[in-house]
Amino acid sequence: MQDVATLMRYRLAMQRELGRGARKGLPVFARVYRRWLESRIRSRGVIPFIVEEERGGPIGSGLIWLTEDRPHLENLNVHVPRIHGVYVEPRVRRRGAATLLVREMLSWIRAHGYRRAVLRTSPRAEAMYVRFGFRRTAEMVREWRE
Ligand SMILES: CC(C)(COP(=O)(O)OP(=O)(O)OC[C@H]1O[C@@H](n2cnc3c(N)ncnc32)[C@H](O)[C@@H]1OP(=O)(O)O)[C@@H](O)C(=O)NCCC(=O)NCCS
Repeated sequence: MQDVATLMRYRLAMQRELGRGARKGLPVFARVYRRWLESRIRSRGVIPFIVEEERGGPIGSGLIWLTEDRPHLENLNVHVPRIHGVYVEPRVRRRGAATLLVREMLSWIRAHGYRRAVLRTSPRAEAMYVRFGFRRTAEMVREWRE
């Protein structure tokens, strides 16, 4: 799976960029994440998207991850597509690559009949998602560090 190598490269670049690269656990994370990615791609629980330069190789990627949901009164589908890990190489940013990627992902989501998509984002990407019609919701989280 050549895609997996590209997806992993960008996943780890994103971790580094978000300041998590120095963490001791990164090699273990990489192994576990890769296994998760490969199995989800096989079962079609993850749909990978890779954006390429016109005459070149990959410059960015993102995933649609079909997470499980409960049936809602207005939506009986028990999967909700989650846009995950959108990353574009720093040297080609601000040229619309992420916009292209997200547009493709949203087309896939709509073409497959989903009526809802969710994501978590960084402050840098928020404006782009707002332009695509995303709005913030009020999810709360409680975390235990150990
Ligand atoms: C966030 C990220 C994916 C954006 O990628 P990108 O390819 O630079 O995004 P785009 O070019 O499509 O759009 C980014 C900006 O460039 C602007 N832009 C796009 N094409 C442009 C052009 N031709 N000229 C000038 N500006 C342009 C967009 O309007 C947008 O403006 P904004 O930053 O004020 O919202 C990228 O910076 C990244 O990988 N960051 C690290 C990881 C991350 O934060 N991921 C998001 C988590 S889900």
